[in-house]
Amino acid sequence: MTEHRPIKKAVFPVAGLGTRFLPATKAVPKEMLPIVDRPLIQYAVDEAREAGIEQMIFVTGRGKSSIEDHFDIAYELEATMAERGKDMSLLEGTRLMPGNCAYVRQQEPLGLGHAVWCARDIVGDEPFAVLLPDELMWGRPGCLKQMVDAYARTGGNLISVIEVPDDEVSNYGVIHPGDEDGALTEVRGLIEKPAVKDAPSNKIVSGRYILQPEVMQTLQGQEKGAGDEIQLTDAMAKMIGNQPFHAVTFDGSRYDCGNKAGFVEATLALSLQRDDIGSEVRQIAERLLAG
Ligand code: G1P
Repeated sequence: MTEHRPIKKAVFPVAGLGTRFLPATKAVPKEMLPIVDRPLIQYAVDEAREAGIEQMIFVTGRGKSSIEDHFDIAYELEATMAERGKDMSLLEGTRLMPGNCAYVRQQEPLGLGHAVWCARDIVGDEPFAVLLPDELMWGRPGCLKQMVDAYARTGGNLISVIEVPDDEVSNYGVIHPGDEDGALTEVRGLIEKPAVKDAPSNKIVSGRYILQPEVMQTLQGQEKGAGDEIQLTDAMAKMIGNQPFHAVTFDGSRYDCGNKAGFVEATLALSLQRDDIGSEVRQIAERLLAG
């Protein structure tokens, strides 16, 4: 039963230019923009770690080296903090040791499918996860952990889905749903960014994937699709029927941090939940809304 092999590697496509957040992203990768006090990428890495991932593979590009610095040792900072008796737990989860992380570059912006394919040598012949850091999936347990638990039963390929209003489906990959069993839905088809009238459902692919290694061969010959980019969705669609393919409806809150309103929503929602600043932010929000 090769399909049930454990998921130990995760791919984080982080090469995007982040043009929607200019000028903030001119010199700072969008994945390093913070929601409260953690960069977006760290939410995704923490989620992967909770799900049992041991090796984080970042598909980066030019101008993204601060992501590598973020997960490295920061000698001066750590020494100074220790000397001054600062709270070292502030750096928790930010150190990935050699063997637990790898970086590879996507040299041209050819699409998400191409980005994942760039990691093929490091992924090798084993199933792996993909996490898109733009999608902040906030739940207990986290989204990938919910998927790994489902994978223990189903094996094969899994994606997380959420339901969105019908008029939003054209921004996403959409599933053609089959039989449902609790949070698990059989996937009969997948289509990337369909017109509203062509969408087979309102269940969208929400940026978390568990994939069998064969997807890399499919990506190898994958032609350009929606947006003139090599789409992961199109390669996955070809695997339906050959391997089990399921969707897990995420039980938690999802914030689309790829757009400005979603980013602000995440900032507000996570601030309100915090012990340290929650009540203060609530007062501020109420005052602003009353004004
Ligand atoms: C990508 C995927 C799409 C998915 C979306 C989630 O699209 O191609 O299937 O629904 O992420 O955010 P992108 O946002 O890169 O256009």
